Amino acid sequence: MNCVLIMAGGKGERFWPYSTDEKPKQFINLFGNKTMIQQTIGRLEGIVPFENIFVVTGERYLKLVKEQLPNISEENIIIEPVGRNTAPCIGLSAFYIKRKFGDVNLAVLPADHLIQDTQNFKKALLNAFEFINNNKSAIVTLGIKPDRPETGYGYIKFIDSENVVLNETVLKVDKFVEKPSKNMAEKYLKEGTYLWNAGIFVWKISTIINNIKKFLPHTFDILDGLFTFSEEEYNLKLREFYPKVDNISIDYGVMEHAENIYVIPSEFGWDDVGSWTAVERHSDKDESGNVKGEHIFYFNSKGNIVKSKKKTILNDVEDLVIIETDEYLIVSKKQSIQKIKDIKKKMLNNE
Ligand code: GDD
Ligand code: MG
Repeated sequence: MNCVLIMAGGKGERFWPYSTDEKPKQFINLFGNKTMIQQTIGRLEGIVPFENIFVVTGERYLKLVKEQLPNISEENIIIEPVGRNTAPCIGLSAFYIKRKFGDVNLAVLPADHLIQDTQNFKKALLNAFEFINNNKSAIVTLGIKPDRPETGYGYIKFIDSENVVLNETVLKVDKFVEKPSKNMAEKYLKEGTYLWNAGIFVWKISTIINNIKKFLPHTFDILDGLFTFSEEEYNLKLREFYPKVDNISIDYGVMEHAENIYVIPSEFGWDDVGSWTAVERHSDKDESGNVKGEHIFYFNSKGNIVKSKKKTILNDVEDLVIIETDEYLIVSKKQSIQKIKDIKKKMLNNE
């Protein structure tokens, strides 16, 4: 049986105040009229039924998940009382899903990424599921060809890359390096034997649990103990014990040490949408490079990004980011918008 786990507990900073701690990136719509998590679920149509889709998220986001994903039943929403990063979040979910369905195949997906080519994504995912049917202790990742020395991603070094068919061929991985330094990222880019980790992992429940047991034994013991309690006691015990797990990502905690990793070189218009310029890259634009939007009117203006519910008119301006929310109006030069993280801190401390 194939299941999917959607990780939806991250907090958005770079899109503040369009996204906020209360409503991070996965719950807002940066493209079209569906939120990122709705798009993530929509992409799974024909791959797995709703009963096999689980969402893991912080307690504070439960309401948003229920509102935005009415097809996901409450028992498929896995709650973390506090955020402890992706390794314990995946571990907790693995135990939870095992209790319901046993040792099934599980694809772990981020809730907040853009994937433009759904057909190719489905193909890669189905190939990954098929591979672990025959290689039961394998970890399959999906790798994206890097085009810049990005230091915010994991890098996957592959071996034996003859006759690669994109979204299909499964290659053995030599090593996994999470968020390398700029120097190393430049070297990897030149070497041509590295792919970006798209943050998608496909494995059997037993493989995840065994890897957590091996590399994060303290977290394993806590999670294993939690699932010895009855379902009635579980919620109370979760609150008591989950905060004690290791606070570490799956990439640093498991992937950098694990064996038996594979990668499917993939191409499906992937972007983790880490900035407004990424939104710009993937949005519909007019002939002057302005991001199109309902009620946004551009006159002799070019290269602007506007998110506003008001009728907004830009006249004779270039390369601006304009964001209107109920509470704020941001006007920034496009090249300076990454400073918003610091501005957010200053603003929220002063309030
Ligand atoms: N439920 C839950 N709980 N979800 C979480 C938590 C948590 O504690 N922490 C993060 N997430 C979710 C985020 O919402 C996101 O969808 C996903 O897990 C990945 O977390 P990020 O914090 O965004 O990771 P990253 O972008 O720094 O790095 C990862 O993704 C890159 C690709 O975008 C790594 O896997 C990299 O190797 C990878 O290249
Ligand atoms: Mg991310």
